[in-house]
Amino acid sequence: MTNQTTAFDKLIDQPADALLALIGLFREDPRPDKMDLGLGVYRDTTGQTPIMRAVKQAELVLHREQQTKSYLAPEGDARFVALLAQIVFGDALAADATLTGVQTPGGTGALRMAGELVARGNPDATIWLGSPTWANHAPIFAASRLKLAHIPFFDQATQTLQFDAMVSALAAAAPGDAVLLHGCCHNPTGADFSHDQWRALSALIEAKGLLPIVDLAYQGLGHGIDEDAFGVRHCLETLPDVVVAYSCDKNFGLYRERTGALWAKGRNAAMTQRLRANMLSLARGNWSMPPDHGAALVRIILDDPALRNDWHAELTAMRERVAGLRAGLAAKDDRLMPLALQSGMFSLLPMAPDSVAALRADHGIYMANPGRINIAGLQTGQIVPFVAALSPHLIAS
Ligand code: LMR
Repeated sequence: MTNQTTAFDKLIDQPADALLALIGLFREDPRPDKMDLGLGVYRDTTGQTPIMRAVKQAELVLHREQQTKSYLAPEGDARFVALLAQIVFGDALAADATLTGVQTPGGTGALRMAGELVARGNPDATIWLGSPTWANHAPIFAASRLKLAHIPFFDQATQTLQFDAMVSALAAAAPGDAVLLHGCCHNPTGADFSHDQWRALSALIEAKGLLPIVDLAYQGLGHGIDEDAFGVRHCLETLPDVVVAYSCDKNFGLYRERTGALWAKGRNAAMTQRLRANMLSLARGNWSMPPDHGAALVRIILDDPALRNDWHAELTAMRERVAGLRAGLAAKDDRLMPLALQSGMFSLLPMAPDSVAALRADHGIYMANPGRINIAGLQTGQIVPFVAALSPHLIAS
């Protein structure tokens, strides 16, 4: 009995997820003035992650009107996908018949489907990831059986986007490889491509025969719905094949409802049809049918002009709060000036990585390694004590 081989013999221990572990550490810290700048959820002026007004209203509508809990199809809620496509791509591009989309469980589900789609299309594909990137990108794409390659993206000490180094490193990519691009509000750095850089990138991607996978998880939290979609729309306008992974977690505040979508654009109608068939079979093999609730709420909001306006107004207020905090931080210390030029909820502070543990131990300030803060986690009144605690750790760029 004891010598028998079991199905679990080859399991090895896994380290705890560092970002998620911060939640527990913060909760256990008894200090009343502790600051939670860890996990990337939006927080309002009272420190809460609110349910957006339009979402609450949509839940009442859903409660009243929903007649069944029977399955959706593997593609999810088609009207949700169609309405969301108009927000993401604008009306004209959303109507492009070579673009096909399905609902996914969050942006994570979309990225996993994207990875598996690429692995099916080109089993030898490498995905090129900028350093640093969202901590979950590498595990998701490794689980999708893609090879990973890391290229420079951002220098923490000097707070600069290393565009030339990134382009040079991409010279080693082979046709049929994929490159992961953050659509806006880069996580963890807040550093986004300029319009000219998007143009140069898409030209390079086309010349080398690469596939861009655009991860758009914060639309509307940087500079505005249309402004934040410049890059993804430019890729769609100029490139023959594009994949877009989308999350409604932050801009609709739907985190736990796991609401997202994946779009793929093929170079002709037959390819688009094949892409869709593969996306549906990947859905069926992974989650079968996506969860309904969050997508139904987004559909109800986008289908109702009053709810849509209110969602947009609240999202605008969220964006302005984050921008105000960025300006407040930059005004307190010259070394934080780059934060005012970055966008979205995250910045990677100009400091040595060991400062993260010191700030947690000495001041109860919680942030992700190697120095990422969720700006939205700050209360306005915490700016002064935060910068005071940070000051000995900051590096001048
Ligand atoms: C983050 O980066 O903090 C969020 O996207 C949450 C997560 O799952 O990592």
